[in-house]
Amino acid sequence: MKLPSSPLPDAPPPSVLVAARKAILAAQRASRAIKPPEFVLWEMLFGIARTELVALAARLDLADRIGDGARSANDLAVECEVHADALFRAMRAMAAHGLFSLGDDGRFSNNALSRTLSKDAKRSMRDAALYFGSDSNLDAWRGLSASVASGESAFAARHGVSVWEWFEAHPEELATFANAMGRATALEAPTLAKLYPFGDFQTFCDVGGGSGTLASEVLLRNPSLRCVLSDAPSVLARARELLATRGVLDRVTLAPGSFFDEVPAGCELYTMKNILHDWDDARSKKILGIVRRAMNPGAKLVLFEGLLDRHDDRPEATLADLQMFVVCDGRERSIDEFRVLLEATGFRLGRVFRGALNCAIEGIAQ
Ligand SMILES: C[S@@+](CC[C@H](N)C(=O)[O-])C[C@H]1O[C@@H](n2cnc3c(N)ncnc32)[C@H](O)[C@@H]1O
Repeated sequence: MKLPSSPLPDAPPPSVLVAARKAILAAQRASRAIKPPEFVLWEMLFGIARTELVALAARLDLADRIGDGARSANDLAVECEVHADALFRAMRAMAAHGLFSLGDDGRFSNNALSRTLSKDAKRSMRDAALYFGSDSNLDAWRGLSASVASGESAFAARHGVSVWEWFEAHPEELATFANAMGRATALEAPTLAKLYPFGDFQTFCDVGGGSGTLASEVLLRNPSLRCVLSDAPSVLARARELLATRGVLDRVTLAPGSFFDEVPAGCELYTMKNILHDWDDARSKKILGIVRRAMNPGAKLVLFEGLLDRHDDRPEATLADLQMFVVCDGRERSIDEFRVLLEATGFRLGRVFRGALNCAIEGIAQ
């Protein structure tokens, strides 16, 4: 993933995004209300087919191969070395779902939806499609019933190791996940970098900061700020290139290690974006306890996390919660649940800044 050496363009304010999401949700509910329930259920049953179709389009790079022109499935099949009729049937189903357009001449062209799968799209979703269609992700979802029976992550039950240990042993899957995560974070980074007043600090430590996507955006917007970026060694090896491309490597100290052992000590501010949602309460407390040990009293911690209430009815947010459950024993939480975790580990809940997806939840070391 290539990011520019200047800050990413600002996104619309969270209030506009939240209003847009509510309008879309209302339209979806209205559309559901006018369909017979059996029809709605039938559509639900094809969920895996849709995931596979999108992942197939990404794996075969169909959007990039088609570019600005129009191409037949036969022609694409020769290039991709796949079966022509099978590819036509898959692409016809994609087009029927709005992914690519099928012209009267039988050729496929890109549309707004399929262009999001192009490698060079500004907000490319290609890596997300590859990750959601990866064996490790689909295997975990296939274990949902077992997870519901046991209360434990299907991934670990199936593979005998956590998803993070699995990635260490499968570098290609780590790359797919890290790219998907980096892309998702790039979409949000401009909003998050403005959501919390980073300008009040000299140094921050991004714990589990991945490839440095958020850290680099925060640094570009705060020229006197420095960062300690901490994550697994294999992940930080990838971060170095991104930080150099964005021209901020000289303001970053890379601190490889596990947040179950220790995190760099003495920073004024610690950030953790989408870390706690990967873990159950016991392990979240362990991580928070280790972060707290590294902090001086009064130092601040910011959790960038989505919020989910007990009776939340947002479809994507409730599915994100289950995604965390089946893959890594994690969960999405409410403010009260974060308060409990913080208070159990030597913090008090500070300010909460509401974003459209992730919010900034401040903990103050006691
Ligand atoms: C969901 S990703 C979030 C990455 C980044 N904060 C972001 O939002 O783009 C979780 C991160 O936690 C890291 N991680 C998992 N287990 C870890 C551990 N024991 N110690 C340090 N980092 C770990 C992963 O490598 C990954 O980068």
